[in-house]
Amino acid sequence: MRRWVPAWIALSCIAAVPETSRADDAGTSVFNTYCAMCHQVNGQGIPGQFPRIAGRADKIALSAKGRQYLCTLVIYGMAGSVTVDGSQLIGVMPPLGSTLTDQNLAAALNHVMQLSGDTKVRPFTADEVKAERRATPLSATDVHTMRAQLASSGVIP
Ligand code: HEC
Repeated sequence: MRRWVPAWIALSCIAAVPETSRADDAGTSVFNTYCAMCHQVNGQGIPGQFPRIAGRADKIALSAKGRQYLCTLVIYGMAGSVTVDGSQLIGVMPPLGSTLTDQNLAAALNHVMQLSGDTKVRPFTADEVKAERRATPLSATDVHTMRAQLASSGVIP
């Protein structure tokens, strides 16, 4: 009797964790493992080296084109010059589309939204990421061209 009671309590605690909290736990662990070494755990980046994404990516995610860009970027990476918070950086973000599943890429993007403190953004889904996978993969430079167009039209702050 005394041996199985604690196990039962432990199991009921796991079952009680709400779905949304589990989803963010996945996002936290993916982000901390695959993104934070550059963008930092809080998403603030390092000026001149890695762009701040907390408080910026949520604004990009408000438009359909911005959402497509974010999904494309995490799949194919990006290389080229960008100006963020008034400082220019010429960086390379690695493609993560062959390392991470669509589900985990969506979870990482959703974690960036959490870091931005914005809960109004519609959550990214695996299907939304999957829709941006191309038959012919984009290069990191192609993604940079996509970003330049969005920056000039004001989608990217
Ligand atoms: C090796 C470092 C590195 C890793 C790992 C990395 N990034 Fe990046 N990220 C960058 C760099 C550098 C840029 C800017 C690229 C450029 O200059 O073209 C960037 C750009 C971005 C941008 C776009 C910012 C903008 O202003 O358009 C977002 C959003 C982003 N990363 C999110 C992520 C997420 C989410 C992950 C993990 C799944 C990740 N990054 C992993 C280095 C990294």
